[in-house]
Amino acid sequence: MFEPVDLHGRKVLVTGPTGQVAQPLIAAYAPVCDLHALARFSDPATRETLQAQGVTTHKIDLADGDLGSLPDDFDYVINLAVVKSGDFDYDLRANGEGAGRLMLHCRSAKAFMHCSSTAVYEYAGHEPRKENSPLGDNHRAMFPTYSIAKIAAETVVRFTARQFNIPTTIARLSVPYGDNGGWPYWHTMMMQNNVPIDVHPDKPNLYNPLHADDYIEKIPRLLAAATTEVCTVNFGGSQAVAIEEWCEYISELTGLQPTYKESKSAFGSLQIDTETMHSLIGPTQVDWKQGIKRMLENLAPELLS
Ligand SMILES: NC(=O)c1ccc[n+]([C@@H]2O[C@H](COP(=O)([O-])OP(=O)(O)OC[C@H]3O[C@@H](n4cnc5c(N)ncnc54)[C@H](OP(=O)(O)O)[C@@H]3O)[C@@H](O)[C@H]2O)c1
Repeated sequence: MFEPVDLHGRKVLVTGPTGQVAQPLIAAYAPVCDLHALARFSDPATRETLQAQGVTTHKIDLADGDLGSLPDDFDYVINLAVVKSGDFDYDLRANGEGAGRLMLHCRSAKAFMHCSSTAVYEYAGHEPRKENSPLGDNHRAMFPTYSIAKIAAETVVRFTARQFNIPTTIARLSVPYGDNGGWPYWHTMMMQNNVPIDVHPDKPNLYNPLHADDYIEKIPRLLAAATTEVCTVNFGGSQAVAIEEWCEYISELTGLQPTYKESKSAFGSLQIDTETMHSLIGPTQVDWKQGIKRMLENLAPELLS
C-alpha cells in the first residue's frame, strides 16, 4: 500500500474546483498547500468563494487551445473538471483534448491524477468490474456524451503520460458523496417530490459509494501510486451498496417512501472489484450508513424523523 504524498507547502492544481467532488477536497487541502483552481467559473460567485478560501483561481475553458497564464510548475495536478453538455464535439474537446493539453502544460508535475468514472464500463449485471473489464457506453440514457468522453479522455491521458513521461494515475470513481450531497441526496430529493427513481430490472443496483472523507485521505495515496506507464484503478468505497438499500435507509431515517421505475436503459449495477484499489491505497473507512446520515443531518435536518 502506498504512503500518501505530503501536500504540505506543495503547489497543487485542482481542475473542476466548483464541482461536487472538488468542494470538500478544496476545503481540506487549501489550508495546507499552495492551492490553485482552474474552471470557466461560469458562475463568478464560485470564484469569489474559492478566493476567500485562499485559493488562486485561473479562469480557463479546457476546450480552448490556450491555457493562458496558467503556471507550469505544479507539484501535483488533480484533474476533476468534466463537462457533459450533450454536444459531442465540445465535450470531447474539453474532456479529452483538454486533459491532454493540461498534462503537456504541467508536464513537470511529480504526479497527475485524472478522475475517470465507472461509467466507462459496459453493463455486465452483478459482476464486479475489474480494471480490465470491457468498456462501453454505459451512461448514454441519461448523459449521451459522458461515457464516450470519459473513455476518450482516458486514452488521451494514457498517451500523453507515456509519450512525455508524466507519472499518472487514472482513478475510476464510483459514487462520490458527502456532507455536500451526491447521488444519494438526489434520491432523497426525488423521494421528497414523489419522483420515481430509475433502476435496472436486474436488481439490486449495486455501487460503491465513496465518502468525501475517504477520497480526501486516498487521493494523496493515488498520487503516490502514479507511474509513467499509468496506474488505472477503480476508486470507490470498500462496501458495495445498492441504490435500493440506500433509499430504504433514507426512508428509515426520514419516513419518505421511494418509488422505482424499472428500465433496461437505467445505468444498472456498476459494482467495482476492489482488489487493486485495496492493494494500492487500502480500504475506505466511512461506513455508508453513517455517511448518509451525516449528509442528511447537514443538508436536510428537517427531513429527519
Ligand atoms: N459526481 C459523481 O457522481 C461522479 C461519479 C463518477 C465520476 N465522477 C467524476 O468526478 C469528477 C468530478 O465530477 P463532479 O461531479 O464534481 O463534476 P461537476 O459537479 O459537474 O463539476 C464540473 C467542474 O468542471 C468545471 N468545468 C466544466 N467544464 C469545464 C471546461 N470546459 N473547462 C474548465 N473547467 C470546466 C466546472 O466549472 P465551470 O462550469 O465553471 O467551468 C466544475 O468546476 C469528474 O471527472 C467526473 O467524471 C463524478
